[in-house]
Amino acid sequence: MAETSSRPKHTKAHEVRKPSAEELRWQQETLAPALSKMPEQAIGAPTGINRDEQSGARFTTVSGAEVRRLYTAADLPADFEDELPGQPPYTRGIHPTGYRGRLWTMRQFSGFASPEETNLRYKYLLASGGTGLSVAFDLPTLMGRDSDDAESEGEVGKCGVAIDSLEDMETLFSGIALDRTSVSMTINSPAGILWAMYLAVAEKQGANWAQLSGTLQNDILKEYIAQKEYLYPPAPSMRLVVDTLEFGAHSTPRFNPISISGYHIREAGSTALQELAFTLYDGVEYVEWALRRGLSVDDFAPRLSFFFNSHNDFFEEIAKFRAARKIWYRLMTERFGAQNPRSQWMRFHTQTAGVSLTAQQPKNNIVRVAIQALAAVLGGTQSLHTDGFDEALALPTEDAARVALRTQQILAYESGVADVADPLGGSYFVESLTAEMEKNAFAYFEKLDAMGGMVKAIEHGFPQKEIAEASYAYQRAVEAREKIIVGVNDYRTDEKQPPILYIGESVREMQTAKLKRLRSARSNEAVERSLNALRRAAEQEPQANRGGISSANTMPYLLDCVRAYATVGEIAGALEQVFGSYREVSIA
Ligand code: 3HC
Repeated sequence: MAETSSRPKHTKAHEVRKPSAEELRWQQETLAPALSKMPEQAIGAPTGINRDEQSGARFTTVSGAEVRRLYTAADLPADFEDELPGQPPYTRGIHPTGYRGRLWTMRQFSGFASPEETNLRYKYLLASGGTGLSVAFDLPTLMGRDSDDAESEGEVGKCGVAIDSLEDMETLFSGIALDRTSVSMTINSPAGILWAMYLAVAEKQGANWAQLSGTLQNDILKEYIAQKEYLYPPAPSMRLVVDTLEFGAHSTPRFNPISISGYHIREAGSTALQELAFTLYDGVEYVEWALRRGLSVDDFAPRLSFFFNSHNDFFEEIAKFRAARKIWYRLMTERFGAQNPRSQWMRFHTQTAGVSLTAQQPKNNIVRVAIQALAAVLGGTQSLHTDGFDEALALPTEDAARVALRTQQILAYESGVADVADPLGGSYFVESLTAEMEKNAFAYFEKLDAMGGMVKAIEHGFPQKEIAEASYAYQRAVEAREKIIVGVNDYRTDEKQPPILYIGESVREMQTAKLKRLRSARSNEAVERSLNALRRAAEQEPQANRGGISSANTMPYLLDCVRAYATVGEIAGALEQVFGSYREVSIA
């Protein structure tokens, strides 16, 4: 316990603090003469931006939160002194040694064209020092369509790898030992299908499912809120997620069946606070639905994981990450009574902000990504993806992918920031901002509770509207040049576009030919039998089954479907016949 301090009484972050006598004296004797000599509105205004009290260009974070000129010990939150890393409430990190025992996982999101080509890129990334894989699927796969579906035209292999069947998954991971390689898969509506394919490949490799480590994104709520890659209505979609939590708790104890994501919420234009609050409240919703299934919180909560964005405002991002750990600890203990410390840990992956990358002067993005990655590390991320500098234009070239990985390695091995646990702990500004984030997030939770939870709030368009308004406000500020984006609304230069990675239509032709061969080689009776069994299970309401999984849990049926080489489109289509499809409420 820290000894009692002689420091001034701390004020809570949410009270507007009156200046102390010493600060008043400083304002009169030191600050006033400095302001008369160099008024602040001129500072940082190379192009004559007016930053006086009336202007919108006041000193604010990327999210528009006002920042004060000065923070002192009096701005530290009251409970700040007792915190240490690796101890509740984990504001200062979930591990007592920070990164000294193990660095964050350098996990580059990657996938394009065919499984054959992506398999080569994965081997390149692992050989270049990447310490985990992260699968990007193409849009048809994300939307539960096969490559030869009419709706897939123009999209096969473009924003990720095309996966149509277990055969493609076997190719994707050929030569990669799944029981020794942590694999994350960014897939949501058809998450159970692709997870079943991954598990079937592991089974064919002779791997023990209990040894498999990795993550399934599987966060359907953020699809309704932000990314919009949903298929079925919310209730059946939530049931499918709970099926994976239940199945994972029993069969894959080291695998994270969900990565509750703020990344896409932020990319849609939310503020840092909205990203934090909506993401953690999505976590609350998943826990509530799993408890209603009859699961006990410590059965599945240790394997809940998170995924956040790291945007340009350095201190705001660090405060967001530190507040996230404390908030999640409070939610898991105060709201859900979780006893297992691992249920109380908020473990997260971070991706640097794609939305901050500029097509203009793309090499500037190397600097933006480095700053954003530094914020994620100082915020205590467990896993990190750094964007390629050319990604505002197209998929990253190999050169851009290498610079992105080297950025992480330079941070890890040359900057010294990984050598101290929570090095910014105790910063008057960071601790004050962290406490402010915590307070404002709980204010959002009260609103969401009053609406009856996140599914109800989504059906009323609440988070969607909040994000749309924040996105509009930010864009207005950029267009008014109250926010400078170097190379975009200032410091512009004419330049030629750098070489980009172009994916043609040959991937669709290749995948279509593979599907044709597959459908004639497999037992179509076995496929039909497995799809009918899946439909029957999906029609049932799963019942809790103490010590086992619900008899209507869809995961075992999905495994049978993929083992019979049913395709993504056939399986997703079978579920759509039972659940129907979803049309979003329009927000006025
Ligand atoms: N001391 C002691 N133990 C430590 C330690 C330390 N300092 N650091 C790590 N460890 C342990 C951990 O406890 C863990 O042990 P366990 O296996 O017993 O749990 C082990 O070392 C591995 O550490 P982590 O679990 O922290 O690291 P991982 O990398 O395995 O997992 C994660 C990180 C955040 C929990 C996981 O969920 C993850 O990898 N997520 C990644 C998700 C992802 O890649 N998403 C990409 C999405 S891309 C996208 O959506 C954007 C696109 O749509 C545009």
